[in-house]
Amino acid sequence: MSTNLPSVGILASGRGSNCEAILQAIAEGTLAAKASLILSDNPKAGALELGSKFNVPARYLDPGRPHARLTPDCEPRYVRALQEAEVEWVILAGFMRILSKDFLSHFPDRVVNIHPSLLPSFPGLDAVGQAFAHGVKVTGCTVHFVDAGMDTGPIIHQKAIDVLPGDTEASLRKRLLTHEHRTYVEALQILMSKRYDRQGRRVVIHS
Ligand code: GRF
Repeated sequence: MSTNLPSVGILASGRGSNCEAILQAIAEGTLAAKASLILSDNPKAGALELGSKFNVPARYLDPGRPHARLTPDCEPRYVRALQEAEVEWVILAGFMRILSKDFLSHFPDRVVNIHPSLLPSFPGLDAVGQAFAHGVKVTGCTVHFVDAGMDTGPIIHQKAIDVLPGDTEASLRKRLLTHEHRTYVEALQILMSKRYDRQGRRVVIHS
């Protein structure tokens, strides 16, 4: 495989289905990138088990505290691990932490996240539950650059799905997750092939 492929590191806290979709796309050659590292703040994360399946180094790194941010002691260890793996792009796939400005300064415009709503609607925790309870007729997911806020960075890619009359929160959640997998891979294809320009908050995609 060419060593010129952009190197990505994936940060995940949980089950890891987006992580798996990304690793699968890389393995199949539909996403031209090299997965260099999987890091998790949760020793039981399903994402860590994907390391052996896809032959990617996978490590738990102590976050220092249970919620919110990595502690000032622990965050630099995440930066170091990513730098040592020569990661160029940091991909958040269900990573339940807000990253500091200092972390982001090491990977300028190279940290991306997926959120299961059409931002700026329903940022934060349980976006699908929030949207369902609100009674929206259309929802979706958003891939965005990460800034120091919560789900506030510039939008890269956004795709909608209908909420169907017979949907329950569980059925919507399930359909949306599959939709996320496709949308995240599409967004990463755009980024890895450099088919975009940043114009302030606007990310303009070229065909
Ligand atoms: C996804 O819904 C993602 O949008 C959100 O957290 C969830 C992670 O799911 N940020 P998984 O671990 O990728 O299965």
